[in-house]
Amino acid sequence: MSYSESNPHPALEGLLAQAQQAELHSYSPYSGFRVGAALLLSNGAVITGTNVENVSYGLTICAERAALVAAVSQFGPGIRIEAVAVANLNSAASPPCGACRQMLAEFTLPDAPVAFPAADGARIMPFSDLLPLAFEMKRK
Ligand code: THU
Repeated sequence: MSYSESNPHPALEGLLAQAQQAELHSYSPYSGFRVGAALLLSNGAVITGTNVENVSYGLTICAERAALVAAVSQFGPGIRIEAVAVANLNSAASPPCGACRQMLAEFTLPDAPVAFPAADGARIMPFSDLLPLAFEMKRK
């Protein structure tokens, strides 16, 4: 996958390479599906995550959410995500799942490009296109 011409963020290529590093750490003995995610934060840091499965299948944590909780744990609740890259070792489509989109929505800028392997090849789209009408609750 490469994002030369239509690359909407100069960091995306490097971000994808970091997602590809993270997928090597995947713990996925049940599905065999090895996913990596990398988040570029507005403070310049890149935080990665991989999927961690469990014998009680529903407890599995996706790569995107693993990266997100690591980012908040490291830098606190003020983080903003400027770009996201997702990759997998299975040569398969892996757009972020619905749960990950909703979790990312809390911290991701609407225009942040999200790069992921789709059924029709590599895709990059703004986060707000990936999750329109995210559930929100205004804080008092
Ligand atoms: N998975 C992710 O890591 N990210 C997603 O957005 C979708 C699915 C993982 C969870 C599970 O370990 C494996 O892929 C198969 O569903």
